[in-house]
Amino acid sequence: MEKVQQSINIYPCPTAKPKPGQQSLGFGVHFTDRMFLMDYSAEQGWHDPRIVPYEPLQLDPASMVFHYGQSVFEGLKAYRTDDNKVFLFRPDKNAERMNRSCDRLNIPRIDESLFVEAVQTIVRLEANWIPVGNGASLYIRPFIIATEAALGVRASNRYLFAIILSPAGAYFGEGLKPVRIFVDDHYVRAVRGGTGHAKTPGNYAATLKAQTEAKERQHCSQVLWLDGIERTYIEEVGSMNVFFKINGEVLTPELNGSILEGITRNSVIRLLKQWGIPVTERKIAIDEIVRAAENGGLEESFGTGTAAVISPIGGLFWNGNDIPVNQGNVGSCSQKLYDTLTGIQYGRLQDEWGWTV
Ligand code: COI
Repeated sequence: MEKVQQSINIYPCPTAKPKPGQQSLGFGVHFTDRMFLMDYSAEQGWHDPRIVPYEPLQLDPASMVFHYGQSVFEGLKAYRTDDNKVFLFRPDKNAERMNRSCDRLNIPRIDESLFVEAVQTIVRLEANWIPVGNGASLYIRPFIIATEAALGVRASNRYLFAIILSPAGAYFGEGLKPVRIFVDDHYVRAVRGGTGHAKTPGNYAATLKAQTEAKERQHCSQVLWLDGIERTYIEEVGSMNVFFKINGEVLTPELNGSILEGITRNSVIRLLKQWGIPVTERKIAIDEIVRAAENGGLEESFGTGTAAVISPIGGLFWNGNDIPVNQGNVGSCSQKLYDTLTGIQYGRLQDEWGWTV
């Protein structure tokens, strides 16, 4: 892995923007005063890590990211605890995943300890942007884009690594709310051998039309993605990993190359195992879920991700039929996972895993 020799240069930031009020936080619409940048060139490797005032980037219109989509990103949060400490949740895992995404997108790897140092440094400088209040956090968006101006189809020789920060409100302002999900057997999100396991914008672009149609035509909030080959096996829900509890056992699709390796997914599996609840990662056919629902074995289902943490599923719409899950209620397992993860993230519960830094 490439080692960066320089330390992070911190430039003066003369202006401070007004901060949004608690009620108008939303998600991903406000941005703080500073950003982290670092450049890559074939000659110099990754160089010039710096924190500068947040402002529009100047990019050549021929920058390769605009044409062939060579880009990766991450998402994590900084939390303010009741006793005014600032916590990050497993940022080393985001650094590792970013490098796995870089490998798939043919982008040069970054130094993982520099990634964590950059996140910690900019969050410390912008700590007064971390909102207080239940479920509020500072969303951290690291990303890399290909910046060489060239239209040949090949890997870029220049990149920009940036980190921006966005104060965000609680995903579920009034407690967990189960959502209705459209099971899509027409569009697919990713295929094995493609980029599904990487956090790259194209995977998200591929979901937008299906999501819009699911909302407009079926009044569903999200799409349940099936595998791209047989349209049989469940992969993800919306932009989250997905779990089902059937007859006391929790099932989640195994990582097969087209599923993103979620950090919340991994944390959920570890918590469930610690609680003595059996968890199995394997192929799950949609028919198996339908049968379990019919014979009363489907106890609950939920998505996991950084933004929502736990998002309960209240029902599935599949083949023209509504399949209720837990009568549309929040399951006890979903609630306990949400309370435990957010408890650790906000410093209300002891972090015996060493997940917060
Ligand atoms: C997550 O919650 O982990 C996501 O991927 C959502 C993000 C792309 C906004």
